[in-house]
Amino acid sequence: MLYFLTNFKNYISYIIAAFIGYFFYKYYIYPLYISPLCRIPGPPVERLFFGNLISFFKSDPDIYLARLKEQYGDVVLFRSFFNSPEVVITDHKLIQHILVNNTYDYVRAIADRPEARDMLGKSIFVVEGNVHKRQRKIMNPAFSFTHIKGVFPTVVKIVNKLKDNWMNQIGDKNEGTITVTTMLPKIALDIIGLVGFGYEFNSTTTESELARAYETITSEKQTPSYFMLIIATIFFPFISKLPFGRNIRFQKSLKVIKACSNKIVFERKNKLIQGGQDLLSILVRINDELPEGENLTHEELKSQVMSFLIAGHETTSTASTWALYLLAKHPDIQNRLREELIEAFPDRSYQPTFDEIECLKYLDSVIKEALRVIPPGK
Ligand SMILES: *[C@@H]1O[C@H](CO)[C@@H](O)[C@H](O)[C@H]1NC(C)=O
Ligand SMILES: *[C@@H]1O[C@H](CO)[C@@H](O)[C@H](O)[C@H]1NC(C)=O
Ligand SMILES: *[C@@H]1O[C@H](CO)[C@@H](O)[C@H](O)[C@H]1NC(C)=O
Repeated sequence: MLYFLTNFKNYISYIIAAFIGYFFYKYYIYPLYISPLCRIPGPPVERLFFGNLISFFKSDPDIYLARLKEQYGDVVLFRSFFNSPEVVITDHKLIQHILVNNTYDYVRAIADRPEARDMLGKSIFVVEGNVHKRQRKIMNPAFSFTHIKGVFPTVVKIVNKLKDNWMNQIGDKNEGTITVTTMLPKIALDIIGLVGFGYEFNSTTTESELARAYETITSEKQTPSYFMLIIATIFFPFISKLPFGRNIRFQKSLKVIKACSNKIVFERKNKLIQGGQDLLSILVRINDELPEGENLTHEELKSQVMSFLIAGHETTSTASTWALYLLAKHPDIQNRLREELIEAFPDRSYQPTFDEIECLKYLDSVIKEALRVIPPGK
């Protein structure tokens, strides 16, 4: 018995020594001295557990990254929790190599984030490899030029509501100020709802359950501690399940979104033959022709509702907000654009067609330039 106890004590110290050794190897020696990524230039490590995260969050993360680029070049490595490497690439050719030409060789960072996985499920945003290839092949035709052109009248109809709202605010005043940007997120939500999955948010007049849940999830204040928490959940996924304010709000809203998505997909499936023109209806029709095993599962279809929302809402609303801001900053360009539009559509209540809009050269240039100067996908 005594022999066993002494032995046992020895084992414990072996186990502890092995554990400490493993810990140091994995989080200190390997990432800092052995990993092939060590050869990438970058700032010296500042903290044992936090790497360079303190500097990253101390000022504005964007400014920190811009400074790294200035100092170390187009490929920079800094350290996050436990010295894990974060590679920042700013070279356009390399970005094309990764995101366009060899995309299947790289794992997408979004798949690391437990809450992104919760939120997006099996959506095309998070799935990898062959599943992604299969989803992409099925979804591509839904985004064909003909179909995109087909949703244009819906867009014009909704944008007209925006115009009416502005006209009402202006009234018969000759001078004064109105805020043009408050309505843009709502209009963008209405558009993506109808165009994406035939859902009427009516968000300029009513407050739907889905709109509220979506807003709760996407409008969390993006403070440094929030980012810290997001990064921490990558290493400790259980954090996203802890019952504190943000997580409770997130999970509750997620439940609403999933229930709504489920209902919407069932509705589209039931109306299969009625020929809805929204992207989800088109997708359901394409999917219906495919054999078992190749077709998207119900779960996958459901996840695309959230993808459409995220892909179509924030981007549209931010891009149009910045475009209006840039126009306000450059009145000469604003005037030239106004002249082009008034000449093309002298009647203010006229609803232009896709082809009529497409041949407006100056409008096209303004939009392209706004997207170039301030890209919305940041
Ligand atoms: C990516 O592919 C395109 C077309 O094949 C090619 O023109 C381009 O140079 C490639 N880019 C890189 C960075 O390899
Ligand atoms: C949205 O508004 C339209 C007409 O303004 C109405 O017919 C429709 O029922 C509303 N939809 C919802 C979901 O409230
Ligand atoms: C996939 O195809 C099978 C066989 O045709 C069908 O039973 C199943 O419902 C389809 N799945 C979806 C989500 O449409």
